[in-house]
Order: sequence, then structure tokens, then C-alpha cells
Amino acid sequence: MSSNLSFKASSELNSCAVPTAQTEMLIGLMSRMSIEEKIGQMSQFFGHGEHISEHLADSIRHGRVGSVLNEVKLHTVNELQRLAVEESRLGIPLLIGRDVIHGFNTIFPIPLGQAASWCAETVKQCAHISALEAATSGVNWTFAPMIDISRDPRWGRIAESLGEDPYLCSVLGVAMLEGFQGDELHKNGSIAACAKHFAGYGAGESGRDYSTTNIPENELRNVYLPPFKAVADAGVATFMSAFSDLNGVPATGNKWLMTEILREEWQYSGFVVSDWESIVQLTTHGFSKDNKDAAYEAVDAGIDMEMVSTTYLDHLPDLLAEGRIDIQQINTAVKKILQLKWQLGLFDSPYTDASLLPEPLNAEHLQIAKDAAIKSCVLLKNEQNILPLAAEKLNSVAVIGPLADDPYEQLGTWIFDGDSQHSQTCLTAIEKLLSGKASLNHVKAMETSRSHDQADFKHAVATAATADVAIMILGEESILSGEAHCRAEIGLPGCQEQLIDAIAKTGTPIVLVIMAGRPLTIEAILPKVDAVLFAWHPGTMGGPAIADLLFGNACPSGKLPVTFPRKVGQVPIYYGQKHSGKPATEASYVHMDDIPVHSPQTSLGMAATHLDTHFSPLFPFGFGLSYTQFSYQNIELSHKTLRAGETLRVRVLLTNTGETDGEEITQLYIRDLVGSVTRPVKELKDFKRVKLAAGKSEWVTFELSTHKLAFYDRNMQIKTEAGQFHLWLGGCSQTGLHGEFEIADD
Ligand code: BGC
Repeated sequence: MSSNLSFKASSELNSCAVPTAQTEMLIGLMSRMSIEEKIGQMSQFFGHGEHISEHLADSIRHGRVGSVLNEVKLHTVNELQRLAVEESRLGIPLLIGRDVIHGFNTIFPIPLGQAASWCAETVKQCAHISALEAATSGVNWTFAPMIDISRDPRWGRIAESLGEDPYLCSVLGVAMLEGFQGDELHKNGSIAACAKHFAGYGAGESGRDYSTTNIPENELRNVYLPPFKAVADAGVATFMSAFSDLNGVPATGNKWLMTEILREEWQYSGFVVSDWESIVQLTTHGFSKDNKDAAYEAVDAGIDMEMVSTTYLDHLPDLLAEGRIDIQQINTAVKKILQLKWQLGLFDSPYTDASLLPEPLNAEHLQIAKDAAIKSCVLLKNEQNILPLAAEKLNSVAVIGPLADDPYEQLGTWIFDGDSQHSQTCLTAIEKLLSGKASLNHVKAMETSRSHDQADFKHAVATAATADVAIMILGEESILSGEAHCRAEIGLPGCQEQLIDAIAKTGTPIVLVIMAGRPLTIEAILPKVDAVLFAWHPGTMGGPAIADLLFGNACPSGKLPVTFPRKVGQVPIYYGQKHSGKPATEASYVHMDDIPVHSPQTSLGMAATHLDTHFSPLFPFGFGLSYTQFSYQNIELSHKTLRAGETLRVRVLLTNTGETDGEEITQLYIRDLVGSVTRPVKELKDFKRVKLAAGKSEWVTFELSTHKLAFYDRNMQIKTEAGQFHLWLGGCSQTGLHGEFEIADD
């Protein structure tokens, strides 16, 4: 049977147009592969650390393995490649996969933090360095970028995301992919990227990981899919299917998603890997009756490679023999997997020579990590301009909190290969900065961010009481976000709020730095502190970045890539919500404490909001303060009316009216007033990071093609509809200069 099928495979490949060296080689190779070897290419095993198990070695020798994940010791990886290349019958090299999410040895801010930089160049640089460092271990494939739209801060994986907005996520997702893959995959230091998790994974019910998602097709296409389409168009090497159930069909068995949308509609030519055992989980979902059925559903949907579980190895031969699947389905998958190996240059050079790559954690990598952390911090409050602190005017500084000097926790989630011994903490950085100037006293006050023990509060209070300023470094430990680490309450954990209360009573001004993997509900804390700098999990160089910001060696410029709710009950709350038929307004809003007793039901409120909290978020998407001020003047639009296909030019005069040099992120939002399906109240369509010296002005110009105004209509056709549009240019989703234009009917 094998030889017949092999013949079919080669004739199918032969039907390709002009044979290139690559197709010729693949045709030759595939014609020699047995069914088992083909299925082997579709199987990914996991490594066990330095020691290669006999089972793995043997499986590689027998051609049962296409890829190995989580093996990162260079000599082990090279040995795995040797087994594949020298001891298997056909000598096909391996894809070596690893979750390189926000750094390898040098850890950059978590992706949500990187997104707060609104800087594609920064995101690209971080990914490029991550790839260079990962490549020194023989890794040639990362499972990133994660471009799941994330509108629920309870979800632990929001930390790994690029935030709530389809446009921002698309731009930064493409930048990350370009950083990983470089301009040529076969170049030293380029690694294949993986767009995950296709699709809708971020919309799990109540922010629980792995849970069900119900996303109407129109919303899926307008909100959740655009980042995936963007990276597919930009050439991402692979996709990963989501664990979650999408509208009743788990993504891993979802043929509509994997084949109709991804392959047929988008013409995507890379391959799709399942998530970790997500094929077996098709039975747990209650979608397949057993593992054989699950293998059938997955392969039929278009999952080319199985991660960790072995349903393909175990059942595809029988499914083929029974005629339930076709050899062409196998050939198509194998061809794409081999193609990637070819593109990576693995057939020519399967082994890694780390001496050809830069040393990990070198000074340049650390500098870029520091710059990225500086750009990603968001200044949320700065009462009376307490920041930046003037070191020379201070006598004594108190540094308080469990995260001030914790080299591990500042790294955040997914840092398999990051070592906290390289981290530079806030305490050490502030100490360095203050040395010879003010005295510094540090009290941890709590064992961890989750502690409830207040025994050390007294010491912290006494230290703060005699200081000129208390810098409190609080937040979430890294284990509180990331995969499967979701929270129902998203306030500061443990007794951190009580710690703030205690320090606030001393009357010493408080500068609060928060490190966290998600937005936190900090409304109640705000009045008690003078400044808040939100630092996410800032990575290896978090300490020096934060110290530079606090003491004015750098100016904050990050903007929120996700809305901060006042209360968890507002979730999901995001800037691009629909208007509804009864939008909340200041006039209609009433708080429950202000409702007279026995009021008739319809006399108050009657708008889309809650009675126990204001309808606005605590901090909107796009928000972030600076040490300087920016003014927007003279908005100009090139057209009042234009036709579909034309481009609107918009510009605004941006002035740095303060006394500090700074960077502003100018954001362009639109609202399509009437649509055949209702449109969001605002949509981000472009942004620019602009560097401006104090007192200087610059015209910030955008070209808005009407294609960018297109959306999927009721019939799932993408169209730019004629009609009236509003437009805003400003420094946040809730402010900005306003303009109007119209797209005329043809
Ligand atoms: C995660 C993926 C990850 C994979 C491999 C899964 O649990 O959902 O995002 O790439 O593990 O580590």
C-alpha cells in the first residue's frame, strides 16, 4: 500500500507549475516516504530536559517525529537533530519548538506591556533579540505571537496578549512576527513564528481559561480574526489552533475555521499545529467519541501537526485504510511541514553553531530590554506633578513592598529560559541612582503579593513616616497571570490595599508602582496615593527602567492597550463597544445610593449601565500621562466627501507645551455613524509615536484609505459603506479634536 500511496503523493506534487529546487527536492523526498514516516512528520513530541529518553530517540530513528518541543540544551538539541539526520531512514531534520513569548534569556516586558509602548519598532526589536537568543539553543520555531483579542482582564492570558483592539493587535502582531522571522527564515537567528490561538480563545466565558466562546460570525470577522488575517498576509510560518470551543465546534476540530476561512478564503499556505493535546481534548469537549474520532476530526478540519498527544500516530493509518481520510490530506500537511524545514534551511544545516550568534544577555540586548520597559510603563496618576522625583532635593526615601526587590516576579509569565539572577530590581536600581544623594530604607512588608500577614506593617509605617517619599512597589506575582491563572477579583491581592492604607496614614507622599499581568481594579486606592506608574511585568531590566522614570531620566510615554474597569462587574468593558439603543449619559446616570426609596421603576436611569458604578471605565484605552503636556490644534481633513477607494489625508498640529522633552502617541479614531450592521462607538484606525522636544510643534499626518473603513456586513462581505463618519485625533480614546467626512454613494 505504501508504495502506491507514495506514487500518488509524488504525482500530486508534480502537478505544481515550474519545479523549483525546493519542489524537486520535496517531490523526491515525499515519493520515498512511507505512510508512517509521513504521519511522523505530523507529530510533535515533547522533550524531557537534558536527557533524551529512549522512547524519543527511538521514535526519531523510526521517523515518527516531525518536531520536538521544550528541548533547549544546545548539545541535546544537536543530538536530537543528529538522530533525525543521521539515524533515521530519510534523514529529515526536526523543528524544535519553544514558547519564546517575551524573551528567551533576556526577558522583555510581557506582551501586554510591549503593546502599551504602541511602538511597532520596539516590539519587533524585542522579538528579533528573542529569536537570536533562542536560536543559540537550536530553537527554530516559537509559539508566538499570541494575537487573541483580549477584553477580559480576569483571563490570565491577557498578559500574553496585545490587548483589546483589532487594529493595534494587528500592527504589533505583524511587528512581532517580523522580529522573529527576520527578512529570510533561513538566516542565522531567524525562527519561525506561530499565530495563536486560532480563534476566539480570548473570549472565554467569565475570563476562565479554556472555556467556551460564543462569538457571532460577524463579530468574529470584525474583531477577532483581523489580527490573524494580518499576520497570515505578512507571512507567518504557522498557526496554532485554540483549545476553546467556538460556537459549539472546538477550534481544533473546526473545519470551517481551519479550511474554509484560513486556507480557502485567506489562501494561507503555512501549516497549523494543534495546541497541547487539544486533539485528544476533542473527546473531553464531547465533540468526538474517542481518540480515533478526534484524529479524524482534526485532520479533516486541517490540523497538520499534533502537539504532544499521539492520536495521529495511533489512528491515521487505520483511518486511511478505512478510507475515512484521503492520502491527499496527509500529503498536503506533510508537504507544508517539509516546506517550512526547507525554508528554515534545516536540510542544509540542521545543527546549531551558537558561536555564529551574539552572546545572549549582552549589553545591547539589555539596553533594548530597558528601553522597551521604559516605553511600556503607563503613568496613570501624577498629582501635583510629584513625579519625576528630584533626587537632589530628597533626604530620605522609603521603598516598600513585596515586589521592590524580587528578581523573579518582575519577569512575568512564560519565562522558561529567563533566569532571575540576571534581573535588575527596582530596589537595586533606585539605590544606585540615589547613592551619595538621599538615604534609602527598604521594607518588604509582605512576604509575597498574596500574603495576609500584616506583622511587618509597623516597620513599614515607621520607615515611611520618616521619609520624604514612600515608593511602594506592589502588584501581582507572575504566577497570578498566564495560562490557567485567571482571577474572579482583579484588585491588588493579599493585604496590599491595607498596606497602602497604613502608609497613607503617615502623610508621607506615596508613589505607587504596580507590576501586574493584567489591568487591576484600583479605583479605591487612587485617592490614597499621589502617583501611579503601571509597569506590567517589565522583565529583566524592569528596575533600571522604572528608576529612570521615577527620577526623571526618562519620560513616561506608554498608553493603555486595554481598558481598566472601575469594578470587575463592568467586564467586558472596552472602548469600541456598540452604542446600544439607550446609551448611558451623565444625564441618565444615577447611582443606587441616590435613588429615593420607593421610586417607580422607570423614573431613573433607563440606560445601558450599572447602578453601583459609573458607566465610564477607570482608565480608558489609549490613556497615559507624561511629564510634559501635549496640545492638539488645527485639525485638517483633505476632503469633506470622498468616494470608496480614495484616501483621506488628515493632519493635526501637535505641540509639546511643557518643559520636558517627551513622546506622544497620537491616535486616530473614527465612527461610522450608520452601518448595515451597527458599528462601534469608536475604532482606532492609525497611530503614531511622535518625539517632541519641549516647546516644539509638529504636524502629525495620517493617510486614511477608505479600505481601512471596510467591515463585514450582514452577509459576511467586507465593504466600505457610504455615509457619514466622525473622526478624532488625540492622545487617548476619549479625547481628541473632532472632524467629519462623508463617503459618497457611487
Ligand atoms: C498553550 C500554548 C503553548 C503550548 C506549548 C499550551 O498549553 O496553550 O500557547 O504554545 O502549550 O507550550
